Amino acid sequence: MSFDSKKFRNALSRLAPGVPVVPGVTDDAAPGGIPVGVTANAFTSVSLEPPLVLVCLDNDTGCLGAFTEGTHFAINILDESQRNLSDMFAGPQEHKFKDQSFDTWDSGCPILPGCLANLECRRTEVYEGGDHVILLGRVELIGLADQGRPLLYYRSAYARLGDD
Ligand SMILES: Cc1cc2nc3c(=O)[nH]c(=O)nc-3n(C[C@H](O)[C@H](O)[C@H](O)COP(=O)(O)O)c2cc1C
Repeated sequence: MSFDSKKFRNALSRLAPGVPVVPGVTDDAAPGGIPVGVTANAFTSVSLEPPLVLVCLDNDTGCLGAFTEGTHFAINILDESQRNLSDMFAGPQEHKFKDQSFDTWDSGCPILPGCLANLECRRTEVYEGGDHVILLGRVELIGLADQGRPLLYYRSAYARLGDD
């Protein structure tokens, strides 16, 4: 029986993950690295002790080298009010940090304000995963919002908790 790729994508779209923006920095071992980032909801927790997470990035991602060669990446879990950030970080790289303010912690990876949670991760491994790479990161720093509601992505569209 031939594999139905469209049905596969459709099945995966029935999971409703939150939406993280995942930034890194080019040449993060040297001063003056350039911030880059992608919207990537192929993200999950892996381990509590040690604290590990993973994110999957398409092999064609323009800024992939910043993640596979950089020492750190960040995870910014978007609030439902931040859909514009998801769209921006899914678009052309040159626009992503043009007018976007951000903080930095120890690594220099952009930490976006107003998110539900922010994680700074040390990249520990890079695995091949078909047409994606799997970045494994050890969480070193955590920021948490006191309130907010998650931006979700369900059946190829943005959604919010409680939407029909
Ligand atoms: C809701 C949403 C989720 C996405 N999830 C992923 C993902 O998990 N992995 C990925 O590689 N790209 C994902 N993308 C697409 C990337 O954000 C987009 O291709 C990005 O611009 C690639 O960066 P580049 O401009 O450096 O190539 C997602 C886009 C959206 C809108």
